[in-house]
Amino acid sequence: MSAFDPAVFSSTARFDLDQLTIGGVAAQDLAAEFGTPLFVVDEADFKSRALGWKSALDESFGEQSGSVYYAAKSFLAKEIARWVEAAGINLDVCTGGELAVAVATNFPAERIEMHGNNKSEDEIRAAIEYGVRTIVIDSFFEIERVARIAKESGKVQRVLIRVTPGVEAHTHEFISTAHEDVKFGFSLASGAAWDGISAILAEPSLELRGLHSHIGSQIFKSEGFAAAAQKLITLLARFRDTYGRELPELDLGGGYGIAYLPGEETLNPLTIMGELAAIVKRECSSNNISLPRVSIEPGRAIVGPSTTTLYTVGTTKDVELDGGKSRRYIAVDGGMSDNIRPALYGAEYLAILANRLPLGPSANSRVVGKHCESGDIVIKEIALSADIQPGDVLAIPATGAYGYSMASNYNHVPRPAVIAVIDGKARIIVRREEIADLLALEI
Ligand code: LLP
Repeated sequence: MSAFDPAVFSSTARFDLDQLTIGGVAAQDLAAEFGTPLFVVDEADFKSRALGWKSALDESFGEQSGSVYYAAKSFLAKEIARWVEAAGINLDVCTGGELAVAVATNFPAERIEMHGNNKSEDEIRAAIEYGVRTIVIDSFFEIERVARIAKESGKVQRVLIRVTPGVEAHTHEFISTAHEDVKFGFSLASGAAWDGISAILAEPSLELRGLHSHIGSQIFKSEGFAAAAQKLITLLARFRDTYGRELPELDLGGGYGIAYLPGEETLNPLTIMGELAAIVKRECSSNNISLPRVSIEPGRAIVGPSTTTLYTVGTTKDVELDGGKSRRYIAVDGGMSDNIRPALYGAEYLAILANRLPLGPSANSRVVGKHCESGDIVIKEIALSADIQPGDVLAIPATGAYGYSMASNYNHVPRPAVIAVIDGKARIIVRREEIADLLALEI
């Protein structure tokens, strides 16, 4: 039967006596005080992962360690931006909305990097006016736009060029981004990346700092990063041979994998950074160029494991399946509006009974949401205690990345609250949406 597994929950989560606690607060009390569905962020866990990636990068690349840019798309709120700042890491934003959250916390502009494959002129202007350190250029059109807007603002904007190195990361098709047939960046194989570099150099209001690639998400092996790094370093060498100087920066993007289910692994930052550093150093020395400053952009690997979703069970029913088997449907008070990942990517999650010890045998169960479609499934198949009743609280670990950030109001369901727990205390960092919030948009 599904049971508490510390490897999948955040670091302060415990199942001590007869219930789940996170950050020293009982899940049941959180559900009672703040309602469900509820995103519970383990503040200490988030901060220690942020620091863990920074120290792994620093230790592995030494003086040429660049920056850890937390990928805001995985989950951003003002409080998260404050934690990121306090941890001494930087922020990667990819829309004007994400930038606005950073601006609202006075996040230091020189620690922000701006991404996006189709940034609007307003987004580019907002980024340049705020003074973001780097804009990652994604297309030829954008070279002209960023150059023009920087010039209008009387600034020289630091940029990286996003290169698609033609590497297929072994991950879900929808989230691998660096093979050729994708919307992102400048293809290396076609020569677009080289032409993009020349076009950027021709713009006096742009300062080309280096190359960027992001090969996908939820990646566990260093091979994909190695292949991308190798190709990018070859390009850095070609740049040096052609222009007689070196580009100082290399950003290898995010994508570091985490465990969602018992038995899965969460990449160890020091291990993967050590592997990447070895590859980058080897390639630089064989191409006879100096080691650039290397940056990374983890999102999931920082926030994913930090967060647990709590749901309250509303109904159960048993259905007969072929071959004399049966399935228990357990319906919770959220679903695809707060976690679209199972429906979108076939993502799998663990659930445990959080408010008490299970009694008796387990049942072959399916955890479903409250939305009006059959595909609204949180967990397709799991053995859960057969005595689960309406009112019980289920906890789903590792929902911090791309859960709230991809949440919707499907069926006019208000989005959940997000609370932070630490040292036995809980506080709201994003309040629960109310029906009034939904109606506020209407004319
Ligand atoms: N940098 C860039 C340029 C990215 O596009 C992404 C993610 C990241 C960094 C952070 O990747 P991470 O470390 O979080 O894997 N919604 C999907 C994931 C989409 C990832 C998009 N880009 C999911 O729920 O699995």
